Amino acid sequence: MIPPHERRILEAHVRGCRLSALAFIQQEKPLNEYEERQLKDLIKLRVRGMPLQYLTNSQGFYGREFYVNTAVLVPRPETEGLVELTLKNLPPREEGRRLFALEFGTGSGCIGITLATERKDMMIFASEASRDALAVATENSKTFRAVNLDFMHVSETPHHWQYDTIPLLDLLISNPPYLVMSDHVAADVAEHEPPEALYTPDGDPMFYYRFLAELLEEKLGPSGIGAFEIAEDRGAETALVFETKGFITEVHKDLTERDRYLLVRRKG
Ligand SMILES: C[S@@+](CC[C@H](N)C(=O)[O-])C[C@H]1O[C@@H](n2cnc3c(N)ncnc32)[C@H](O)[C@@H]1O
Repeated sequence: MIPPHERRILEAHVRGCRLSALAFIQQEKPLNEYEERQLKDLIKLRVRGMPLQYLTNSQGFYGREFYVNTAVLVPRPETEGLVELTLKNLPPREEGRRLFALEFGTGSGCIGITLATERKDMMIFASEASRDALAVATENSKTFRAVNLDFMHVSETPHHWQYDTIPLLDLLISNPPYLVMSDHVAADVAEHEPPEALYTPDGDPMFYYRFLAELLEEKLGPSGIGAFEIAEDRGAETALVFETKGFITEVHKDLTERDRYLLVRRKG
């Protein structure tokens, strides 16, 4: 069985009503036969470990409800922390010039769309290798009318030339895949979330950070920042990837005091 509050969330989803209105609607109108069957099916999937967010096609992020499906990673509260840290550390905007940002690996679009809606003076490019994930991000972008955001479909193997047309950046942000197979991952995450959003190629946890460090070398403006989500036990190792390219780094903690974010700047 599933916890009562999860059953209520699923019933509200089947009824197409807000959770806060469920008790009232339950009194007014019992579930019809079709809705009963739909709810039973969803409960069965939940018992098998399917994340609730994939069943309701929804996850809150930075005060907005994002559409999600199994093509994208479910946006995490830690990632809201990355957005908050980034917004606090953006370089000042020069008179008459907009800020330029790139998000690598946008998934549901939660990071790029949030930045675009919070900072309308910033133009954001958001890359993604999965076409199915890009369809989700595009839908979310329409919902939130993020007009200052352009998506780019890129190859699974990252190449610099795919970013050639992007201007000098004030921000490069990413929550890239950073897990390797031997890392501990909750069973429902491992079984249901897209592997290409979780794991790096070749069992190399630094694979994407190395690419991002090279991209920063080419594209980061003099006062720009890199902002990355990192694995809590690999803060020093990840920082070193950027330091060996001559950048200054700062590891930041999330609300649970774990090392989860890396800020990167040019020296001098
Ligand atoms: C950890 S998920 C992050 C998704 C979203 N930004 C978030 O924070 O919830 C990483 C994303 O990177 C994408 N990805 C993997 N390889 C990529 C590549 N070479 N270029 C662009 N995106 C890539 C995956 O498909 C996935 O959507």
